[in-house]
Amino acid sequence: MQIYLSRPDITEKEIEAVCEVLRSPNLSLGPKLTEFEQVFASYIGTKRAVAVNSGTSGLFLCMLALGIEPGDEVITTPFTFIASATSVMMAGARPVFVDIDPVSLNIDPDNIEAGITEKTKAIVAVEVFGNPAGLDRLCEIAQKHNLAVIEDSCEALGSALNGKKVGTFGTMSVFGFYPNKQITTGEGGMILTNDDTLADTCVSLRNQGRDPHRLASTSPPPVCFASRSSGGSSKGGWLAHDRLGYNFRLSDINCALGIVQLSRIDQIKAKRRQVAKWYQEMLADEDRLIVPAEPDGCDISWFVFVVRLAPSVVDVSRLADGFTLAQRDRILHEMKRQNIQVSNYFPPVHLQPFMAGQFSYNQGDFPVTEAVSKSTIALPFHNNLTKDEVAIVCKTLRKVLDIN
Ligand SMILES: Cc1ncc(COP(=O)(O)O)c(C=O)c1O
Repeated sequence: MQIYLSRPDITEKEIEAVCEVLRSPNLSLGPKLTEFEQVFASYIGTKRAVAVNSGTSGLFLCMLALGIEPGDEVITTPFTFIASATSVMMAGARPVFVDIDPVSLNIDPDNIEAGITEKTKAIVAVEVFGNPAGLDRLCEIAQKHNLAVIEDSCEALGSALNGKKVGTFGTMSVFGFYPNKQITTGEGGMILTNDDTLADTCVSLRNQGRDPHRLASTSPPPVCFASRSSGGSSKGGWLAHDRLGYNFRLSDINCALGIVQLSRIDQIKAKRRQVAKWYQEMLADEDRLIVPAEPDGCDISWFVFVVRLAPSVVDVSRLADGFTLAQRDRILHEMKRQNIQVSNYFPPVHLQPFMAGQFSYNQGDFPVTEAVSKSTIALPFHNNLTKDEVAIVCKTLRKVLDIN
């Protein structure tokens, strides 16, 4: 029996909602798009939401909307999924990494100011693994230096810091809906902001540079080729394009799935919290591991459950102590051999070969990130993981640690 790293949680309600769209003529740019954006904005508490086809395209559009361009620098963390940094590069700007806090694993606010230059335009703040710790201090620093904050909240739907929801801290924020996320649309993402100009720019950029207001006032979006070919004129309509744009649209099929998933977010959060609690309880006495906990003031919407091999992370000066990367990788290998899916979230972004090559980053540049990266084990984690499965994972992990 395989115990999966992650599984989507799809009920008959989601299936019915998707089928309903398939029975309608509105497969894209239809009512489910508007509804998904409205319910999402209302859940997070922002004025606007713009649905896109992935978290990555959402981050990229934020860069463009904020005017980030070649010559600019954007600060972010090297301990994240690659898109937090590549979205900066897609806009032609340079990602500037600052090292992380060894406990929260988020960008260490104390390191940010050293990374700011006259070229810095923004900070991409990631709530890694759903943890919002430090976000308030990061925003204070950004404000002091007049920098935009793009919250990469792709892992943190439903998290909050001191009662304030993740996604409301940044100038713009982005959520992702890949199937391992708290909610899924298959593929998809959502950009949030309180700024109408930024939101309208994203609406245009995601739809081939069409002007959303003019489009609305001229003709409805065509649903077949006949109306498509008649929709354009130099004055406006479907075939008038105001700027270089992209097709980053999210179909109504995906949106229908997202609406139902979002309506279940409290239940989903609770299920994931329970799984995290089982792991915390079952691994509480395991001093070879650092087990994640919820910091003060943080309401974590658990995305993954990542334990770390002790003690390398807590004391950076003792990096040579504790487990080695080779040992960690052997542990991952052995767990997988025993049909338990695990992963190494995340290898340091600055050491990805294309990144290190282009920006001359080296081993040792971000010691906390590097120490943490070589000690992580992401354990199976999803809504419907059972207590018995968690027990099997923990028992197997202890045995594997014994022989390594
Ligand atoms: C922190 C972070 N940023 C961005 C992304 C990119 O999202 P997507 O896969 O929807 O493009 C992810 C997805 O895993 C992520 O975890």
